[in-house]
Amino acid sequence: EPNGLKDYYHSYFPMGVAVRPSDLKDETAEFLLKNFNSITAENAMKMQPLHPRENFYYWRDADSIVNFGVNHGIKVRGHALCWHEQAPDWMFKDANGELASKDLLLQRLKDHIFTVVKRYKGKIYAWDVVNEAIDDNPDNFLRNSLWYQICGEDFIAKAFEYAHEADPQAKLFYNDYNVVRPEKRERVYRLLKKLVDAKVPIHGVGLQGHWSIYEPSEAELKTAIEQFSSLGLDVQITELDVSIYPWEKERRAKRPEEDGVFTADLQNRQTEQYAKIFKVFRQNKKVLTGVTFWNLSDRYTWLDHYPVQGRKNYPLLFDQDFKPKKAFWEVVNF
Ligand code: G3I
Repeated sequence: EPNGLKDYYHSYFPMGVAVRPSDLKDETAEFLLKNFNSITAENAMKMQPLHPRENFYYWRDADSIVNFGVNHGIKVRGHALCWHEQAPDWMFKDANGELASKDLLLQRLKDHIFTVVKRYKGKIYAWDVVNEAIDDNPDNFLRNSLWYQICGEDFIAKAFEYAHEADPQAKLFYNDYNVVRPEKRERVYRLLKKLVDAKVPIHGVGLQGHWSIYEPSEAELKTAIEQFSSLGLDVQITELDVSIYPWEKERRAKRPEEDGVFTADLQNRQTEQYAKIFKVFRQNKKVLTGVTFWNLSDRYTWLDHYPVQGRKNYPLLFDQDFKPKKAFWEVVNF
């Protein structure tokens, strides 16, 4: 008799969730363990929180998340080894305060990846190695981050090589957002194909899945999963939520009626969207090796602060009291 979300999906894929250390106690931990069998650190394993100064690592939060996973026999996904956001300033500067050389930066990236991946070897089964390297502007290919400015394209392959050397068993992912949109999908595909052709140790692609009641369509989602898996890569949904607001600024500006109220109409549209995307997930269970939600319930979601600070959002399957929403029942009823 299924009990929590994960139980309905036990023959499909692990059901994961992004957590903060404070989620791992009392009723929140109970709720988590009832519904999920995989966890990811929402922030604790990013470079800035973990490695704020040269030769200094802050392990407590990351360790508490890994230990919780290990102690309860659930999977732990690592996030993220190389990202342009939440990367500490010192990483990109030399001893004189000038921009670091390529050699220096790659040496630091290697040290960081070796230290972190080896510490959790055998405990973290999959890593987001490179996060969000494709530019938002469709006319460009890679994002003009400090990683790119200093190293050119090389930092991407290097990051995967370092991670593979540090833990040859870990599944290594490239992770990005808006990947189901055709123009970005094509550029992500181009990058992944290059890496695969060059025999870089990459094993999967993470589609973040910061979606909304307006996107993606069933066809777009299906096409993206098929196109990426045709490269022989695993596909995971790594940061799932379904915003009740449209993502684009232009469209947002035309909606002055947005007031943070979760109307019956919005609930229905969100329920339909969740039903649709989970149908596609189930149809692709051979290549889809994990689905991770970005936060536990509507009580706390990063979308309350982004892109509009203080506008309440309701993007998850559980409400502010941790009770299953209409969308939950639709997702488990198949
Ligand atoms: O911990 C500090 C705190 O000490 C400080 O006082 C406070 C003041 O701003 O900031 C706190 O850090 C914040 C951190 O979340 C923890 O709450 C950062 O400012 C804030 O920028 C950070 O936001 C996170 C964001 O990534 C940037 O790292 C979100 O929680 C997190 O949900 C979000 O997750 C990302 C994925 O990693 C990658 N894909 C997109 C996704 C959503 O943006």
